[in-house]
Amino acid sequence: MHAKIGFIGGGRITAIFLSAWKGGGIDLKEVIVSDPDAEVLASLKARFPEIHIVSENRLSAAQDVVFLSLHPPVAKTVLPQIAQVLTPKALVVSLAPVLTFEKLSELLGGFSRLARMIPNAPSLVHRGFNPFAFGSGLAKEDRALLDRLFCPLGEHPQVAEAKLEAYAILAAMGPTYFWFQWQTLRELAREFGLEKQEADRALNSMLHGAVGLMFESGMDYAAMLDTVPVKPLAESQEGIERVFREKLSALHARLKG
Ligand SMILES: NC(=O)c1ccc[n+]([C@@H]2O[C@H](COP(=O)([O-])OP(=O)(O)OC[C@H]3O[C@@H](n4cnc5c(N)ncnc54)[C@H](OP(=O)(O)O)[C@@H]3O)[C@@H](O)[C@H]2O)c1
Repeated sequence: MHAKIGFIGGGRITAIFLSAWKGGGIDLKEVIVSDPDAEVLASLKARFPEIHIVSENRLSAAQDVVFLSLHPPVAKTVLPQIAQVLTPKALVVSLAPVLTFEKLSELLGGFSRLARMIPNAPSLVHRGFNPFAFGSGLAKEDRALLDRLFCPLGEHPQVAEAKLEAYAILAAMGPTYFWFQWQTLRELAREFGLEKQEADRALNSMLHGAVGLMFESGMDYAAMLDTVPVKPLAESQEGIERVFREKLSALHARLKG
C-alpha cells in the first residue's frame, strides 16, 4: 500500500484506525495526523511512534487519502479551510454522521472524490462493523484502495448513504448501551465469590452463546425468551425499553437533521 494517508483530528477514532492498521500490517510510516491539541498528538505519537504529527490540517489534507476524524460542527469549519490543498486525485473519507456527500462536497468547494464510513470501536481488535458508502466521484481503483484500508478494521459492508445514521446508532454507539451492564455483572460475579478469570470466562461465553441463540437458532423472539423461566430484571424491562426508544429515536432525528 503506497498511498500517503492523512488524518484530520487525532482523537478516539483515529487511534482505533491506527491500532487496527498496526495489527493488520499496514505501514504507519505513511500516516500523518493533524490536531490542534499538542497533548493529543503527543499521546498518539507515544502509542504509534511511526506516525508523523502536525498541528496544521493543511499538511494532513495534502495526502493521497484524507480521513476526516472530526465531529460534524468542527468539520463544517475545517473543510472550507482545506479545500484548496486537496490534490485532484485525493480521496476524502468522512467518518462523521450528519454531513451528507452533498454537504461535504459543498463545504469542499465542489470536491467529489468522497467516501463516508461509520466505524465502530471493536475495529481496534479487527472485529468492527464499519458500514460505508462511496460517493459517485470514485473510480474502481479508488474503491479497491479504500477496501484494502478498511479490511483490517473488520466487516465493512457497502450500504446506502441514507442508512449511515441508523448504523451510527445501532453499531457505532451500540457497545455503550451494553458495556456498563456487562461490567456490573462482572463486578457482581466477583462479589458472589468468583475469581476474575472465572467471571470473565463465564460472562464472555454467556454473551457469545446468547448472541448465537438469538441469531443462529431460528427461534422466534418469544420462544427464545421462554427458554429461561426466571427473569430477575423483568419488572425493570419496560422502563429500560422506554429509555432506549426515547433517547435513540430523538438522537436519530437529530442526526438526520
Ligand atoms: N469513536 C467512535 O467510536 C466513532 C464511531 C463512529 C464515528 N465516529 C465519528 O468520528 C468523528 C471523530 O470522533 P472521535 O471519537 O475521534 O472524537 P474525539 O475523540 O473527540 O476526536 C476528535 C478530535 O478532533 C480534534 N479537533 C478539534 N478541532 C479540530 C480542528 N480544527 N482540526 C483538527 N482536529 C480538531 C479534537 O481535539 P479537541 O479534543 O482538542 O477538541 C479531538 O482530538 C466524529 O464525527 C464521530 O461521530 C466516532
